[in-house]
Amino acid sequence: MSVAISFKDIVKKYGDTTVIPELSLDIKKGEFFTLLGPSGCGKTTLLRMVAGFNSIEGGALTFNEKVMNNVPPGKRNIGMVFQNYAIFPHMNVSENVAFGLQNRQVSKAEQQRRVSEMLDTVQISVYKDRMPKNLSGGQQQRVALARAIVINPDVLLMDEPLSNLDAKLRVDMRNAIKSIQREVGITTVYVTHDQEEAMAVSDRIAVMKSGVIQQIGTPRDIYQRPANLFVATFIGRTNVIEAELAAGANGEAEICLTKDYSLPIPKLQPLMGSKQPMKVKLSIRPEEFVLSEDGKGIAGKVMNYVFLGLNTHVIIKLENGEEVEMIQQSASNGVVEIGQNVRLAVVRETINVYDASGERNLNRGSGL
Ligand SMILES: Nc1ncnc2c1ncn2[C@@H]1O[C@H](COP(=O)(O)OP(=O)(O)O)[C@@H](O)[C@H]1O
Ligand SMILES: [Mg+2]
Repeated sequence: MSVAISFKDIVKKYGDTTVIPELSLDIKKGEFFTLLGPSGCGKTTLLRMVAGFNSIEGGALTFNEKVMNNVPPGKRNIGMVFQNYAIFPHMNVSENVAFGLQNRQVSKAEQQRRVSEMLDTVQISVYKDRMPKNLSGGQQQRVALARAIVINPDVLLMDEPLSNLDAKLRVDMRNAIKSIQREVGITTVYVTHDQEEAMAVSDRIAVMKSGVIQQIGTPRDIYQRPANLFVATFIGRTNVIEAELAAGANGEAEICLTKDYSLPIPKLQPLMGSKQPMKVKLSIRPEEFVLSEDGKGIAGKVMNYVFLGLNTHVIIKLENGEEVEMIQQSASNGVVEIGQNVRLAVVRETINVYDASGERNLNRGSGL
């Protein structure tokens, strides 16, 4: 049976150092939930609290409303998968997967049935008699996953499970993990520092920085409407540009990028109460710049471009000396030349506008 997990004002201290100050989070039953953030932000610490390997210095951790703070790890019915597989080298694949069942008073026949079913699920039945040393990294990770799930845990915890695999295998395995999780339907907490991996596997993501959750949302929410500039720059690529939010000629809110290029953004009108221009920071993703066809836009010069097949990445130096990146679909004939003067227009519907501190996204809640 799968459970809902809730953190209420959870605190983690190592000695006198507070690593997680009062964190609250609700993970739904059956959800694939990812903790994402840079190294050292507290992801593993949080996961170990769920597993029961870390003490909890404040607040309450619950599974289906039941407080778990002091329940020992062995009584939490949790399956875990780590970066370094941790499968037993002296046991073959079937024995590794059966291991968790042996301590659980499951009959031999039932063990065999469940192991064989699980090997089918993770698609390694043909290797059932092999020793781990004769398996690839991806196959070993499938064994680890099978071993974690075969016990029918309430929660599956995974800490950077794909870090040791090469790039192509990582993509294959993340697809496998996602579809296996969907099939088994088990509440999963997944830890990674890789934003693309997080977007590919998760129902929802919590982006963390220094023990504090910056934003919780679906991959799409987090990419399209990042709550602050930290999230905007951590998820995907973006250009951060300073601008002013001011009332334009007809009184509507406008973002002034240069003295002759402004973008009307009427939905930001309520912020214009004071009528004073307000310094803002814009997050403009590379795909939110387009080459202007009507001569309006920010003037710049093409410094370099990289052809990557489907897309071409173009580096452009703006009038003020800042460099920005634009991505456009490659045309059959090259569309830009190094040294070319261009004007960049901005897709105003999708860019994000932050206050000067970068802490508050002005679009959020504005219906934009
Ligand atoms: N056992 C420990 N004792 C003291 N500090 C620790 C311990 N484990 C982790 N930390 C510190 O807690 C912070 C979060 O670490 P961790 O949860 O491992 O981060 P992440 O998994 O996001 O990389 C880091 O500053 C780390 O140095
Ligand atoms: Mg970690």
